[in-house]
Amino acid sequence: MRVLILGGTREAYELAERLAEIDGLQVISSLAGRTRAPRLPAGEIRTGGFGGAAGLTRYLREERIGYLINATHPFADQISAHAVEAAAASGIKLLRLLRPAWQAAAEDRWIAARDATEAAELCRREGGRILLTLGSGELDAFANVRNAHFVVRMIDVPEQILLHDYRVVSARGPFDLADEMRLLAEHHINLLVAKNSGGDATYAKLEAARRHRLPVIMIERPAIAQEPQAPVVASVEEAIAALRVMLR
Ligand SMILES: NC(=O)c1ccc[n+]([C@@H]2O[C@H](COP(=O)([O-])OP(=O)(O)OC[C@H]3O[C@@H](n4cnc5c(N)ncnc54)[C@H](OP(=O)(O)O)[C@@H]3O)[C@@H](O)[C@H]2O)c1
Repeated sequence: MRVLILGGTREAYELAERLAEIDGLQVISSLAGRTRAPRLPAGEIRTGGFGGAAGLTRYLREERIGYLINATHPFADQISAHAVEAAAASGIKLLRLLRPAWQAAAEDRWIAARDATEAAELCRREGGRILLTLGSGELDAFANVRNAHFVVRMIDVPEQILLHDYRVVSARGPFDLADEMRLLAEHHINLLVAKNSGGDATYAKLEAARRHRLPVIMIERPAIAQEPQAPVVASVEEAIAALRVMLR
């Protein structure tokens, strides 16, 4: 049985490592190719887009994939929609591994934003020293915010950043609470902008913001149509259990 994991997340990495140990499974992990030096799990790796839903459908057929697992990031809306379409077109079973969203605690001061554009508008209202924990694709939305100094934390620094006044901190998670408390204090941050990615690896910044009593602009997850028949699981363990049931 050949299993394709659409990856780019910590869970996808862990899942590939675990599935590679199961006899009779051939695991292929697919990465978009955005990160310069990604961590590569056990099993086969392929990199780069498929060419839309049609390209993914073709790949599933040509590579004789028997099971498709979408373990991409909760904000990866295009590839997730393509996975639904391609699985339906090729009659291949699809499993969605999706981390649960973070929930605000009673002491948290979260301000919800629908997307990066709305988050930028909220930043313009607040101003000050703002920590952006977003991907390079979302930064352009903040280009017109001129009353703030941005500290941008990201894994790979893009060649061009259109922000008016900024500093980049290049780092890869997981981050612990002490690191995050220090980052907020060192840069005199008064506002944090985050996407509701969920998971443990980047949660500490929210706890640090809570302790510093800082507001957080939280960008909500995009709505992605799910295949009604496709199970959605929240953890690597649940994904393995679902696959075992299917293999019986
Ligand atoms: N968005 C985030 O905040 C975020 C955060 C951490 C990690 N990631 C990871 O980064 C990757 C790209 O995310 P995105 O938000 O840019 O995705 P996206 O907007 O949903 O996808 C854009 C295009 O990139 C290609 N693509 C995306 N994920 C792919 C994968 N795993 N394998 C092969 N091609 C893929 C597809 O190209 P074609 O149409 O040509 O097939 C897709 O149409 C994903 O693997 C995701 O898990 C994303």
